[in-house]
Formats: sequence, structure tokens, C-alpha cells
Amino acid sequence: MEECELQLTEPTESLREAYIDFVDEFHAAGDPHVAGEWDEVHGDFSAFVRRLRNHAIGVDLPEGWVPASTYWLVREGRVVGACGLRHSLTESLRDFGGHVCYGVRPSERRKGYATFMLRAMIAKARAMGTERVLVTCGAGNVASAGVIDKCGGLLDSESYSPAAGRVTRRYWIDAVGSHGRPAESPHGGAPDKTGK
Ligand SMILES: CC(C)(COP(=O)(O)OP(=O)(O)OC[C@H]1O[C@@H](n2cnc3c(N)ncnc32)[C@H](O)[C@@H]1OP(=O)(O)O)[C@@H](O)C(=O)NCCC(=O)NCCS
Repeated sequence: MEECELQLTEPTESLREAYIDFVDEFHAAGDPHVAGEWDEVHGDFSAFVRRLRNHAIGVDLPEGWVPASTYWLVREGRVVGACGLRHSLTESLRDFGGHVCYGVRPSERRKGYATFMLRAMIAKARAMGTERVLVTCGAGNVASAGVIDKCGGLLDSESYSPAAGRVTRRYWIDAVGSHGRPAESPHGGAPDKTGK
């Protein structure tokens, strides 16, 4: 893979078709991860992008929400993944949600993209002064647990989350240690292009 082929970018209207295609693939696969976005992206896409960008700077946050930055992983104009970094934790996020969330479209899984995104989010968290990153996943989510494991996650606890309606595993990742290094491409190049 060429270095320029993989980009981590903030939500933008210019990726409207590509992002709708991304969400449609989750939807077609019956994957609940981004199903809630389907109506929104098929409706007013500009408002959707504005909402995400506002949330990154703490504007128009629903009550109880913390600022959160969203990034899309793009390869050759195709959105292959999406991830988010919450800038701080609430009691609710400590139980379920954590600092980071990520999803990779079904046809692009097992290529290292989620690992790349989680590493990039750890680096961004460190840049914001966060020393430990909390990542959670459902106890049955073997794929997400594998990603967290690859990024140096240490299991802290496992218990039922009423908000999620399932058992949640909570992992801490040391953001200032070796896992807080800048993200590398799953194929050896392509640094995080956002420059943040
Ligand atoms: C979880 C998810 C993001 C993983 O994305 P991915 O890009 O396929 O993950 P990676 O390629 O970085 O995988 C890293 C490691 O995790 C493990 N892993 C990933 N998918 C796996 C699977 N289906 N079964 C078992 N292990 C898996 C493997 O150890 C893998 O390393 P390997 O390929 O070298 O063996 C993806 O499956 C997804 O989008 N799922 C739905 C959304 C979700 O659950 N998000 C996480 C909660 S916020």
C-alpha cells in the first residue's frame, strides 16, 4: 500500500457519497454499530457533519455528553472506518463507552484498520494530556477485544452495564507508554494525516 492511500480525516461534506456508502454497508449487514446514523446521513448530511464538528468543540452537546472528536478513515476516496475520541469520561462512560469507539465496514475487516484507528486515538488522547485511555467492549465482542489487546489494553473489570444491556469489559491503555506512539499504517506507511 502506498503511503498516501490511507487518511484519517475529520467529517466533511465532500465525503458525502463515500460516507453514505459506508453506513449503508453496515446497515445491509444488519450491524447495529452505526444503524442509528442511517436516517441522519440519508437526510440532511450537512447538518450531520455540522453536528459532529460541533461536538468536537463542545458546541450543542446533549445534556450529559462530553466533547468528542470524530474521524473517518479513508482509502482511495472510500470510507473504510470511523472512530471517535471522547475528551473526558463521565460516570456513564466509565461504565460503558470509554474514551474511544471505532467501526470498520464489513468488507474491510481484518486488515488492521481498527488497530490503526485505536492507536491514532491513543496518540491524540495523549496530545490532549490524557495519560490512560479507557476502551470498553461487550464481553462477546471478540474482534474488538483483539483490537484492544493489540494496542496494549489491560483488562480492568467486567460487569453488567444496565445502559448497554449486556456485560461490558473495561480496559485501560497507557497513553504515555509505547502504545501512545504515533499510529503507523497497517501496511507500514500512511501516518495520521490530520496532523493533530
Ligand atoms: C471490531 C472491529 C472494529 C475490528 O476491526 P478490524 O479492522 O477488523 O480489526 P483489526 O484488523 O485491526 O484486528 C486486530 C485484531 O483483532 C482480532 N480480531 C479482529 N477481528 C476479529 C474477529 N472477527 N474474530 C477474532 N479476532 C478478531 C485479531 O486478533 C486481529 O488481529 P489479526 O488480524 O492480526 O489476527 C470490527 O469488527 C467492527 O467494526 N465491528 C463492529 C463495530 C464494533 O464492534 N466496534 C467496537 C466497539 S466500539
